[in-house]
Amino acid sequence: MNQREHFSWQSAVRELISAQQIAERISILGAQITQDYQGKDLVAVCVLKGSFLFMSDLARQIQLPIAIDFLACASYGDETRSSGIVKITFDLSHSIEGKDVLLVEDIVDTGLTMDYLLTNLQTRHPRSLKVCALLHKPPRMQRPITIDYLGFTIPDVFVVGYGLDYAQRYRNLPFIGVLQSPIDKG
Ligand code: IMP
Ligand code: MG
Repeated sequence: MNQREHFSWQSAVRELISAQQIAERISILGAQITQDYQGKDLVAVCVLKGSFLFMSDLARQIQLPIAIDFLACASYGDETRSSGIVKITFDLSHSIEGKDVLLVEDIVDTGLTMDYLLTNLQTRHPRSLKVCALLHKPPRMQRPITIDYLGFTIPDVFVVGYGLDYAQRYRNLPFIGVLQSPIDKG
């Protein structure tokens, strides 16, 4: 990819939250989590794929010997709207029974995915279960989800970057932005 192509794929995205804003907010969230989970048995659960960058940066701002686990879920629907029918496609590697679990999500949009995950994980008897989400779109909420640690509230726009995708692209953008014109999906 030459310099010009590099510029054009990023310029299809209008920046909403800069890499620096993300880093600053994550350092505050990490400090809060560090304080709140003193003496607890924290398992941070990264909800793949969208949270992979958020988790990697957040984990390094938590000054505690935490465990990290991963799960993936698929929500049936088209590329920009979730249907609410959610399935776990890749599950945790260890039991969370008796653990203090923090679900780390990229975005709570309708809340349907988080509602499903909370109900599912609760049946595994964690000692506590909380939610950390980088982004939240309040106007689209269909389920009342308590977000214990929130990065940013955004308007009802479809965002990409910093882990979030459109048709699996743009996850590697260092910032969060609004897609102007999708790239050729190839
Ligand atoms: P839900 O509507 O809260 O169930 O959102 C479920 C999933 O949809 C999120 O975890 C994201 O993967 C995806 N999603 C929702 N809104 C956006 C967006 O603006 N950009 C990229 N992905 C999104
Ligand atoms: Mg997601």
